Amino acid sequence: MYLRKLKLINFRNYHQLDLKLHPKMNVFIGDNAQGKTNILEAIYMTGTGKSFRTSKEREIIKMDKDKSYIHVEGEKKYTSVSVEIKLEENKKKQMKVNGVTLTKNVDLLSNVHVIVFSPEDLKLVKEGPVERRKFMDIEISNMKPRYYHQLGQYNRVLIQRNNLLKKIHHDRKYMATLDIWDEKLVELGTSIMKERIKFILRLNTLSRLLHRKITDNKENLEIKYMSNIKEVHDEERIQHYFHRDLKKVLDIDIQRGTTTVGPHRDDLGVYVNGIDIRIFGSQGQQRTSALALKLAEIELMKAETGEYPILLLDDVMSELDVKRQAFLVKSLRDIQTFITTTDLNALSTLNLEAKNIYYVEKATVRQNDEKDINELKSK
Ligand SMILES: Nc1ncnc2c1ncn2[C@@H]1O[C@H](COP(=O)(O)OP(=O)(O)O)[C@@H](O)[C@H]1O
Ligand SMILES: [Mg+2]
Repeated sequence: MYLRKLKLINFRNYHQLDLKLHPKMNVFIGDNAQGKTNILEAIYMTGTGKSFRTSKEREIIKMDKDKSYIHVEGEKKYTSVSVEIKLEENKKKQMKVNGVTLTKNVDLLSNVHVIVFSPEDLKLVKEGPVERRKFMDIEISNMKPRYYHQLGQYNRVLIQRNNLLKKIHHDRKYMATLDIWDEKLVELGTSIMKERIKFILRLNTLSRLLHRKITDNKENLEIKYMSNIKEVHDEERIQHYFHRDLKKVLDIDIQRGTTTVGPHRDDLGVYVNGIDIRIFGSQGQQRTSALALKLAEIELMKAETGEYPILLLDDVMSELDVKRQAFLVKSLRDIQTFITTTDLNALSTLNLEAKNIYYVEKATVRQNDEKDINELKSK
């Protein structure tokens, strides 16, 4: 799918913005703090209803205003789509798809499909399990809103159970209600683990292929689901072992007042030629695998929804060497992409691609052609 038009009113530092978008490549160039990422943030919101930078909607509304408006129009394989979002201080956000007001937030999700890729994503392999769990959770949620819902429920049950463990520590009589919480935790946790296992199996196949291409067949990527629950196969067995392990560590958990087994402790193992590169990988290897994972995610989304999502690349070009930049750009031929960069040189790899170039300065966006950019470069 692709977007044709973007309109913003009182969004972040923009008073008003109307942009015609290129169906393939859109490049936003400008110094720091001019408003490049703000544009990507607005597009992301039309896909997910949320920002990738903040959970506080007030921050998004222009500082001296009390309302904010985003509107995109785009084309999908068989239909056109229009999404409008209105943010108003102290009010619930309003969302419209093709002119019809949505009553449930989840109904927004199947309209504009979008994936964002930022320098943080390149650190995915190097960082801790929290980031990798977040990666799994966001990606699965994007494809399956139900998963997002279950994850929220699981986290609430987990908090309740941990509170109960603390009470039991002081008074054993509270033991009586533990089974009820364990039952819920295992049921929700098992659904989450099942979805993660499925996701990782598919991601593994796709990312391995992409990774082979980036490394000229020299390296073999493998990603694995890592859980602290011993056996992870069919539903019944997951439930059985989850229960068993909760019981096994119960004394320790009561001591600590926290639950030490379960999918909230999961990780994603990343191996190159059999070596765990979360710990032993070079920075290059870690970044290459992160790139492969992210590109695999695009393919997964296509498989799931029938069309390619829109891709937002926030400041990633200058983080990649020329070879990886070129691979990335080549992989994006069929995908509408929005790139932000402070670095005009990052454009050299994009030279052959048809594109729109926008120069962003203090919340004004000027569309430039190649000639202007060459003049800028020669200064
Ligand atoms: N709610 C807001 N109202 C007005 N300006 C804002 C608001 N939120 C952020 N800004 C401004 O937006 C600019 C940052 O925009 P951003 O798109 O992140 O920049 P960059 O071009 O570096 O990607 C900063 O100047 C910041 O002060
Ligand atoms: Mg930025």
